[in-house]
Amino acid sequence: MTWTIEREHGTDLDLEEVLRVYRDSGLGERRPIEETERMAAMVRNANLIVTCRVDGELVGIARSVSDFSYVTYLSDIAVVRSHQRSGIGRRLIEATRREAPQAKIVLLAAPAAREYYPRIGFAPHDSAWVLNP
Ligand SMILES: CC(C)(COP(=O)(O)OP(=O)(O)OC[C@H]1O[C@@H](n2cnc3c(N)ncnc32)[C@H](O)[C@@H]1OP(=O)(O)O)[C@@H](O)C(=O)NCCC(=O)NCCS
Repeated sequence: MTWTIEREHGTDLDLEEVLRVYRDSGLGERRPIEETERMAAMVRNANLIVTCRVDGELVGIARSVSDFSYVTYLSDIAVVRSHQRSGIGRRLIEATRREAPQAKIVLLAAPAAREYYPRIGFAPHDSAWVLNP
């Protein structure tokens, strides 16, 4: 199986295809996938998106907002269930780092992925704060 991992612009992505990855990964349970306009804005306005495709089909996505200098906020990372645990998530994060090598990556882990980030080199932070809208 050959994967292609590359940066793509949110405006070039097919929203239906992106929504399918959110649904088929499980992340859709924690994102507003029924609010199509909102999801479209999330994809359009993210300025660092890395995708994984197998034979052209989207199977993984890492969606970040970065200043490409100090910090990259990794908002969403999702790999469809059929391709999970084959190294794609790790590669998506590596490619995200390569696009902004000086920037640290910051994220909030979904409960199902709490044990994932320490495995791939992330350190916990004991002072993360959220101000909800
Ligand atoms: C979390 C997720 C992105 C990981 O991507 P992935 O391609 O399955 O992970 P990788 O293959 O890169 O895994 C790398 C290592 O972490 C392990 N791992 C993968 N998912 C894990 C999890 N949820 N918990 C703990 N370890 C995990 C793998 O077994 C692998 O271990 P190894 O290096 O010893 O072989 C993917 O499983 C997913 O989309 N999950 C559902 C959506 C989600 O929760 N996203 C995170 C939002 S914060």
